[in-house]
Amino acid sequence: MAIIAPSILSADFLHLGRDIEMINNSDADWFHLDVMDGRFVPNISYGMPIIAAMKKAARKTFDVHLMIVEPERYFEEFKKAGADYLTIHYETGFHIHRSLTTIKSLGMKAGLSINPHTPVDMVRDIIHEIDLLLIMSINPGFGGQKFLPLTYEKIRRARQIINDAGASTLIEIDGGVTVDNAPDILAAGADVLVAGNTVFSSPDPAATIKILKQAGK
Ligand code: DX5
Ligand code: ZN
Repeated sequence: MAIIAPSILSADFLHLGRDIEMINNSDADWFHLDVMDGRFVPNISYGMPIIAAMKKAARKTFDVHLMIVEPERYFEEFKKAGADYLTIHYETGFHIHRSLTTIKSLGMKAGLSINPHTPVDMVRDIIHEIDLLLIMSINPGFGGQKFLPLTYEKIRRARQIINDAGASTLIEIDGGVTVDNAPDILAAGADVLVAGNTVFSSPDPAATIKILKQAGK
């Protein structure tokens, strides 16, 4: 069954405690936390203090997605804030292999994300170091965008690379995931679905999470 990771970017920041509790009590598996710096992406979101505060109330895995330049400057701080998975962007690094091993040495799972223009094959040689491969299905920076269909082929290719290598990397899809496209995304080979707008703009977020959770069956 799919791992479901609601994206807090679309939550109601005025009532964050309420939205955390909704996720705690839902079929969701992870909290997806988007950190943006206004440099790597044209938007600024939130950082360590908010994540640390959320950690006190949240009872599920923290999946932290760093959309920031020079992410290696902050690995220890995100560990302290409560990150379980820490994902960096391939496009931000000269030494991705070193960054992934550093994240793991700090006791977190290491994630690597690729933008829509980055071929999946770029990660092939380091696939055994990647716990989570986050394939962006939109251009990162904002919630509520439309899923890019070119993603399906990337998922199939990623699945092939992971299987050929005998690796245990999870494939996560982030951006424009809906109850309508979730079954196709999972059929292509994804393991983890991020959903922001689909969950939080729905009249019954917990029920929508349940539908996403069942999507791959
Ligand atoms: C965007 C973020 C996503 C975002 C997804 O850069 O990485 O996690 O919250 O939002 P939706 O699901 O609304 O496309
Ligand atoms: Zn994200």
